Amino acid sequence: MRYALLTTACILLAACMPPAPKSPPSDPLAPYRAALAGLPPEIMARAEAAPVRFAGLLRRIWAVEDPLYLARVDKEKPLPADYEPGDLVSLAEYPFALARRDLRLRKPAAEAARELDAAAKAAGVTLVFSSAYRSYAYQSEVYERHVRELGEAAADRISARPGRSQHQLGTVVDFGSIDNTFAESKAGLWMAANAGRFGFSLSYPRGAEGLTGYDWESWHYRYVGKEAAALEAEFFGLQHWMLVFLERLFSGF
Ligand code: DAL
Ligand code: ZN
Repeated sequence: MRYALLTTACILLAACMPPAPKSPPSDPLAPYRAALAGLPPEIMARAEAAPVRFAGLLRRIWAVEDPLYLARVDKEKPLPADYEPGDLVSLAEYPFALARRDLRLRKPAAEAARELDAAAKAAGVTLVFSSAYRSYAYQSEVYERHVRELGEAAADRISARPGRSQHQLGTVVDFGSIDNTFAESKAGLWMAANAGRFGFSLSYPRGAEGLTGYDWESWHYRYVGKEAAALEAEFFGLQHWMLVFLERLFSGF
């Protein structure tokens, strides 16, 4: 009886007490909001719609040891003239169709390309590797040749000045014809549909020259890793915006 009274008193007391304060809802986007602000609003909206996925991908990207995989390199953000990756490997050691024997890539990019190439072959598609790593000096030659042939203004739409080419990172491959007939070729269509699954991202899509600084290049793919390729496809829509965002984040913006 005494016990029953005590129990009833406890229940009544509990009913009169204010509810225990809930712990504040966790916000997976909190570390990223400042870097997202100022980018096109649909990017923030996509992140708000799937915050756990967004933060999860970023945590995995964060674990990559070498941030140069995701460095922004463009007309505004040059690399040092003497930057040369330490882990370049010859693509002649791989079972690739090469337009020339002296092509090189960073080892992780070459290994990812091996996977990409095997999947293409399994689908009956031949990927021709036409250009890969370019040193600062070699990019100077490429750019100067374009200037001689087209004049400076036209050259600047299709060719990076030395130090400003993603090719100097050692993570970029130009495939096939190196012109936009590639887009409609079997290899180009296969790449457009599948490259992201293997961590490759199209750097200069059609209609984005105002942002990327370069005319459409359907053949120029940069290895960014599978997580970053997924982040780009699901949230940013454009490699450029993802790199701007990551740059803000890495620099403690
Ligand atoms: N064609 C690209 C922009 C480069 O020269 O790196
Ligand atoms: Zn290229």
